[in-house]
Amino acid sequence: MSAAQVLCRVEEIPDSGALSVRIPSATGGFEVILMRQGEQVFAYHNECPHQGRNLDYVPGKFLIRNASIICAAHGATFAVSTGECLGGPCRSGLQRVPVRVEAGQVLAP
Ligand code: FES
Repeated sequence: MSAAQVLCRVEEIPDSGALSVRIPSATGGFEVILMRQGEQVFAYHNECPHQGRNLDYVPGKFLIRNASIICAAHGATFAVSTGECLGGPCRSGLQRVPVRVEAGQVLAP
């Protein structure tokens, strides 16, 4: 079993905002959006299920309004807390990445 990886400290993620981090993997790694609501952190692949584009409008900058994240490409809207598709051209939700918060740090298992 490998040790958990520290992705960032919780306070590095703006409350009601997002931070983009890269998780290394054997195949080159992938980008993850960490979104915070108070002490809760939600993580998803930075890939829109509509056409596979990144959700940010410039690298690391995301449109987040009223607990929803809006894909910059065509406006698909997803719930921050569940990744569920709420509107726009998406037919499925964001792919969740398992993370946990421990001692003020966001960890990937
Ligand atoms: S790629 Fe995200 S809405 Fe089209």
